[in-house]
Amino acid sequence: MTGMRLATIGTSKITGSFLEAVQETGRMTYTAAYSRSADKARAFSEQHGGIQWFTSVEALAQSDAVDVVYVASPNGLHFQQVMTLLNGGKHVICEKPIFITLNELEQAFSLAEEKHVFLFQAIRNIQTPVFKELKAALHRAGRLRSSVLQLIQYSSRYDLFLDGKITNIFSPQFAGGALEDLGVYPLSAAISLFGPPADSAYFPVMLSSGVDGSGTLVLNYEDFVCTILCSKIAHSDAPSEIHGEQGTLRINNASNIHRLEWIDAHTKQDELIAEDKTDNDMIYEITCFADTIEQNDLETYRTLKEHSREVVRVMEKSRRDNGILFPNDQV
Ligand SMILES: NC(=O)c1ccc[n+]([C@@H]2O[C@H](COP(=O)([O-])OP(=O)(O)OC[C@H]3O[C@@H](n4cnc5c(N)ncnc54)[C@H](OP(=O)(O)O)[C@@H]3O)[C@@H](O)[C@H]2O)c1
Repeated sequence: MTGMRLATIGTSKITGSFLEAVQETGRMTYTAAYSRSADKARAFSEQHGGIQWFTSVEALAQSDAVDVVYVASPNGLHFQQVMTLLNGGKHVICEKPIFITLNELEQAFSLAEEKHVFLFQAIRNIQTPVFKELKAALHRAGRLRSSVLQLIQYSSRYDLFLDGKITNIFSPQFAGGALEDLGVYPLSAAISLFGPPADSAYFPVMLSSGVDGSGTLVLNYEDFVCTILCSKIAHSDAPSEIHGEQGTLRINNASNIHRLEWIDAHTKQDELIAEDKTDNDMIYEITCFADTIEQNDLETYRTLKEHSREVVRVMEKSRRDNGILFPNDQV
């Protein structure tokens, strides 16, 4: 057995991808699955080499056979499930967007501290080596003037929506919408690169279900502006860029960051700075979380917590400014 013993909540595709990445890193041993359905929990656990399964989050939280839990349930369920797990003394890796309100986040961080466990938001783009190269290369751009970071991905679930079937990600009940689901990636990148903005304004395109199908988030940094585009109802392969007086840094995509280019403003020459051909970039976040727990790396943890706070703060303000309210807003 290697490393910590891992359990999962959620049996959709993303949990499968996470477990493939866990296996690739060899940093955790898969032990148990939770599902609302016993058949699904058992089948999922066995399929991925687990030895236990649960249909109660409370029972999972109390299990002696689990150290860390990966939570990939609909956004609106994260808070209750994570609080139960933290109460049981488990480390938690929770999918993006970790929570819906800053109040939830602060409650969970306090409980994690009280229980001497770690709580992480799984936001894989900022953990990739190419993103780290981008951060290191930022100075080359000189004085920053603008940035456009975008994630415009037509969702097959929008076809269902148009047919009258509202899936979780288009439902306010489960805290869906473009900003929570996709905007969180470019926003996380912006906050990691530029820090918290002085001000922000969100302009959503609303759907009849009460969530944003797409939107534009403007982050004001006083001497430059970062514009974030996110959409689940249109498609674009356009790259994301940071524009400075000396040149432009361009990444292929705001969530799957695997290519970084530099374009000199004066010579217009294009240079490839970094490229990563890894299939499953969840390996980087898993490595970071495993290192942080095993080495009790409180400095990295503090940085990650502060980052999550700023991301949740901007997203909550964006929603509230536009009257986009979820059941979690009552917590
Ligand atoms: N990092 C990434 O690249 C990435 C990609 C996709 C999604 N995500 C994140 O992962 C999370 C899950 O997203 P998803 O698209 O997989 O969500 P989903 O398909 O709507 O649901 C995920 C799981 O939650 C359970 N679930 C579904 N509906 C439920 C309900 N009404 N009540 C209680 N449990 C329910 C189901 O598991 P059981 O039926 O087994 O209980 C399901 O497998 C979200 O936070 C999302 O933002 C991350």
